[in-house]
Amino acid sequence: MKSIRTISELREWRAEQSEVIFVPTMGALHAGHMSLVQEARRCAGERGVVIVSIFVNPTQFDRPEDLENYPSTIESDLALCEEYGVDAVFFPQVTDVYPADASVSLIERSLSATLCGATRPGHFDGVCTVVLKLYNMVQPQVMCFGKKDFQQLAIIRRMMRDLNVDVQIVGVDTVREEDGLAMSSRNARLDQLARAEAPLIYQTLCAVKAGVEQGELSLSGVRSAVEQGLAGVESETRIDYVEVVDEESLAVVQAEGGGRCVVAVAIFFAGIRLIDHITVDLEVV
Ligand code: PAJ
Repeated sequence: MKSIRTISELREWRAEQSEVIFVPTMGALHAGHMSLVQEARRCAGERGVVIVSIFVNPTQFDRPEDLENYPSTIESDLALCEEYGVDAVFFPQVTDVYPADASVSLIERSLSATLCGATRPGHFDGVCTVVLKLYNMVQPQVMCFGKKDFQQLAIIRRMMRDLNVDVQIVGVDTVREEDGLAMSSRNARLDQLARAEAPLIYQTLCAVKAGVEQGELSLSGVRSAVEQGLAGVESETRIDYVEVVDEESLAVVQAEGGGRCVVAVAIFFAGIRLIDHITVDLEVV
């Protein structure tokens, strides 16, 4: 496995490859990231190669303390990448990605109006800017992203379409802990009680899905159903948002219509912001 630190080294490596499948990450790798790598390996087949980038992108952090506290586990990240058959790991430097006098960046104007975009100003502009930059550096045919960050995935698909970027975007299912908690590097920051109680988020989402699909819960009752689901929790919790949105446009769905929608939540558990979502099929209502 090759470790690449500079853009010129990356270009040299890239020139020797034909089919390149790319998994961008911020490191602190866990089984969720590795399922992206497995999918990338499948896409790569015999001829292709898989490259993972590890870059904690400063422009997507709206809270400076999150950037400061972002975990770094380089040694185990490298060991995991090696174990999963990654061909190259790219660790760009902040100064290479963002020259001090950089004056051009991207703005997303529509899909970030709801959900995480509404409460994290500038977050998705930072994501778009770095993902396009990383794309330009690596020049892959395929990029893999997790459905866990489903707003991010929708925005990246839209960006690639809007900017006519010739890349295939592959979405990979959310990987969960055995108790249902969506895997996230933030889970390591939960205290013991919050870690024990956080699986309630997904349990509540499953109950909401069942309730809506069986016609026992209306969309307008979803927020209070989530509040009730968390009612007995001892950890300090705060709901950042509970929304029912259209799967494609991410527009808030007001009334029971047809089709699939997504119930998405962001909830602070003992100060740590966790996101999760579930797809609800309104056809069956
Ligand atoms: P990061 O949080 O490191 O996640 C990297 C990729 O792993 C993302 O596509 C994310 O959706 C996926 N992922 C994380 N947890 C997952 C899980 N439990 N199951 C499945 N996939 C999971 O997302 C980012 O980094 C950044 O915003 C990035 C795209 C790298 C741009 O900086």
